[in-house]
Amino acid sequence: MKVLVIGGGGREHALAWKLAQSPKVQQVLVAPGNGGTALDNRLHNVALTDVQALADHALAHKIGLTVVGPEAPLAAGVVDAFRAKGLRIVGPTKAAAQLESSKAFAKDFMRRHGIPTAAYETFDDAAAAHAYVERQGAPIVIKADGLAAGKGVVVAATLAEAHEAIDFMLLDNRLGVQHNAEGARVVIEEFLAGEEASFIVLTDGRSVVPLATSQDHKRLLDGDRGPNTGGMGAYSPAPVVTPNVHAKVMHEIVQPTIAGMLRDGMPFTGFLYAGLMIDAQGRPKTVEFNARLGDPEAEVILMRLKSDLFDVLMHAAEGTLDKLELQWDRRTALGVVMAAYGYPLNPRKGDAITGLPPAAHAHAETDHMVFHAGTAMVDGQVVTAGGRVLCVTALGESVKTAQQRAYEVLQPIAFDGAQWRGDIGYRAIKR
Ligand code: AMP
Ligand code: GLY
Repeated sequence: MKVLVIGGGGREHALAWKLAQSPKVQQVLVAPGNGGTALDNRLHNVALTDVQALADHALAHKIGLTVVGPEAPLAAGVVDAFRAKGLRIVGPTKAAAQLESSKAFAKDFMRRHGIPTAAYETFDDAAAAHAYVERQGAPIVIKADGLAAGKGVVVAATLAEAHEAIDFMLLDNRLGVQHNAEGARVVIEEFLAGEEASFIVLTDGRSVVPLATSQDHKRLLDGDRGPNTGGMGAYSPAPVVTPNVHAKVMHEIVQPTIAGMLRDGMPFTGFLYAGLMIDAQGRPKTVEFNARLGDPEAEVILMRLKSDLFDVLMHAAEGTLDKLELQWDRRTALGVVMAAYGYPLNPRKGDAITGLPPAAHAHAETDHMVFHAGTAMVDGQVVTAGGRVLCVTALGESVKTAQQRAYEVLQPIAFDGAQWRGDIGYRAIKR
């Protein structure tokens, strides 16, 4: 069968790489793909991003299965467009994707269905928002309502920072957040203390299969300092998700969410990502939902998946996930993101990347894989083409050995102004 992966980041490179390993897959198309998917001769980039054009292409080329990576096409209704043509696709509808595309929708949903999350209020009026943070005090969290690629959140340590965040989100929109139809809105919420983890499941709307757990590193700099990013590195599994925490997350967060969406008439299908904050007592709360796999979480999770990803996605698309059990490599996978000069605010494009492993390494059974994200092939040279450029991923018997291996693989790779963290996995190594 021919399959299509929509997106062009590290997550999509990992999805395409894994799908290409299935004996049942004849061809993997990636739209639009990146330099890494261009280099792998089992993958074919298709220069399309428009939702209708993608659906027409899938129909014309007899694509048997499509999987969506990023949030933007989901929020634009790509799943609805494919299903309207009778095409098989894994991902949530536009309505269900509001769990990610509208923070206000997600918070109201959680309140209605009793799903643990931080207390909050929603504002479109700046004066009312300022008055609210004065009453609540700091620390406090200010979030732009709309897609912001992980950049629309300010964890304000002081009231001054909170006021400034309200102004730039509601008045100037300096972050370039894609607003919902209603215009600029902010969600202001209680600060949650604890350790974060990414809990991602695959669902067909009724049955739920949890993927391996993982932990991301959202801040740009070592020791979780500096600005928030889309994610600077990840590892799987996340020891903070003990069996007890896992059971609580399934029972208190995941199952009520899937059941609630079904009851509300917009069954959620595809990957659901609950970003968790787990407190010192092991109680999980939902920080956010994403309607997709995380990036770079997908890279480390897929590195550990032993099951045939094509089979897994077919079960999701056909509504037979109750028949599926996933097999995982028991080793730890750890991925280090190399980001472009100027990331996250203003990443520079066009820097030549040297020291990459040969393209054929994507075909080999090895303990490491360099997934491409913001890269492009220009005149036979791989260059930077986005904020997060590569995710250098390795397997190891422990977090420590996976970490050592990932940094060994990263060592020869270079481009001007490259930024990466030197401490990915540190929380799990201290324990
Ligand atoms: P979000 O885009 O909602 O995932 O937020 C980005 C990051 O901000 C999260 O990964 C957390 O590190 C932090 N954050 C968001 N909401 C809260 C909260 N209520 N309390 C503490 N930290 C938060
Ligand atoms: N790594 C966080 C995300 O994908 O949203």
